[in-house]
Amino acid sequence: NQQNNDDRFRPGFHFSPPANWANDPNGLVYYEGSYHLFYQYHPYSNKWGPMHWGHAISKDLVQWQHEPIALFPDEHGAIFSGCCVVDWKNSSGLFVDSHGLVAIFTHADTHPVTGQPRQRQSLAYSSDKGQTWHKYDGNPVLAEDDLIDFRDPKVFWHPQSERWIMAIVAGDHARFYASPNLLEWTLTGEFGKGEGSHDGVWECPDLFELPVDNTGRTKWVLIISIGDNPNCPEGSRTQYFIGEFDGNTFVNDNPADHILWLDHGRDNYAGVTWSDVPQEDGRRILIGWMSNWKYANETPTGSWRGAMTLPRVLSLASKDGNVVLIQAPVREVEQLRKEFMSWSGITVTPAAPFIQKMNEDLLEIEADIDLRSGSEFHIRLKSSGLSEIVIGYDPAKEWLFIDRSNSGVTDFHPSFASKHGAKMVSKNGKIKLQIWVDRNAVEVYADHGMVVLTDQIFLDAPMDRVEVSTQSGEAVLDSLQIHTLEPIHIL
Ligand code: FRU
Repeated sequence: NQQNNDDRFRPGFHFSPPANWANDPNGLVYYEGSYHLFYQYHPYSNKWGPMHWGHAISKDLVQWQHEPIALFPDEHGAIFSGCCVVDWKNSSGLFVDSHGLVAIFTHADTHPVTGQPRQRQSLAYSSDKGQTWHKYDGNPVLAEDDLIDFRDPKVFWHPQSERWIMAIVAGDHARFYASPNLLEWTLTGEFGKGEGSHDGVWECPDLFELPVDNTGRTKWVLIISIGDNPNCPEGSRTQYFIGEFDGNTFVNDNPADHILWLDHGRDNYAGVTWSDVPQEDGRRILIGWMSNWKYANETPTGSWRGAMTLPRVLSLASKDGNVVLIQAPVREVEQLRKEFMSWSGITVTPAAPFIQKMNEDLLEIEADIDLRSGSEFHIRLKSSGLSEIVIGYDPAKEWLFIDRSNSGVTDFHPSFASKHGAKMVSKNGKIKLQIWVDRNAVEVYADHGMVVLTDQIFLDAPMDRVEVSTQSGEAVLDSLQIHTLEPIHIL
């Protein structure tokens, strides 16, 4: 039942489009008091099609307001992924004595002679805070005839060399271009052939600098999403590299075969970060598309399809001598907290699980667990019907996982009903989990945000209880805290 599924799986606190299909977040920029979220949008169907840029704005990254479609396909093709920047000094000359927003995106069409897919980079600009958009007369501004899958530009101002830098992908590598004015671009470097994962085509790069812990050191992070590969059960996913950017190119700190995954769940793709977040705030905030090309067109949501992850703050930490990304949902999400329940010192065994009935299905759960006997540990989110989501930890394998094999509606694709996770070492036999539960997804953060799992879930009926237990021996819930959450308002 379409109507029914529309209501049931509509997220309570994740962003979703008003109707029809959405994929990648695009044009993330903060400007004059508002966070802008544009996104790949097909306004005429719940499946992928000729791409537009949908648009929403927020004051706090939590409550959103839908805006009219910002960019429509034109004579140069459909509007694929890209970014927005504030042209503060009017370097482009597109604004009259002032600053404004410039969107840099991929125009996708077919080559008139070869008939092959063609992808070129173009601009649009807005002088009224993103309300109306004008395509630049000189589009496209960057074309490379011999490159395929040349797309998804991400641009930032590089103060050290006083010019704009574009990170962009071309199938099996990332490229870097520089420009004084956003209109003319010069290639300065390439990175990636033979580096990291090439399970799928490279997409949606992002490049930024972050401090490492409190060491005074900084490192550059290069984010690369990789497309679906029919031979990989994981489908599309996102990797990142840690290294240096000298204004021209990126150099990887790690060996070429060292792969770092942004998220170990199945549904966090094409994530990129907000541009122009004010310096006094200083946060690097990422949002991802909470789906997977493996089955994105088949999910059972009915008249709308596709949602975003929670916005997350990214930072760098050093772990065993290596620098890694850590993630945490933006603190603004705390405004959604409603009721609060907490317990401590509860021993659980298979014969005596902890069971809490819930009247609400939007939750934030924080659990400190003493694994004691070293038995596998489970937090089960159960529906009033027959399905459940299992978030578990296997101490023998040192493995944190989500098992969604019995999670309700799973039959829309053979690879959806899966159990998957990540290596995670407990500390003195203890782990801490933070879990956000929505009607279409769960997000699990562990090991201080070093391990994250984001998964879409479609329970057969609303979630109505939380059960905590082990597979065999005893474990102790040192602390369990549950907040019920208020749904967000999308106006
Ligand atoms: C990533 C992606 C991008 C492309 C867009 C098209 O999910 O394939 O590479 O620009 O989606 O919608």
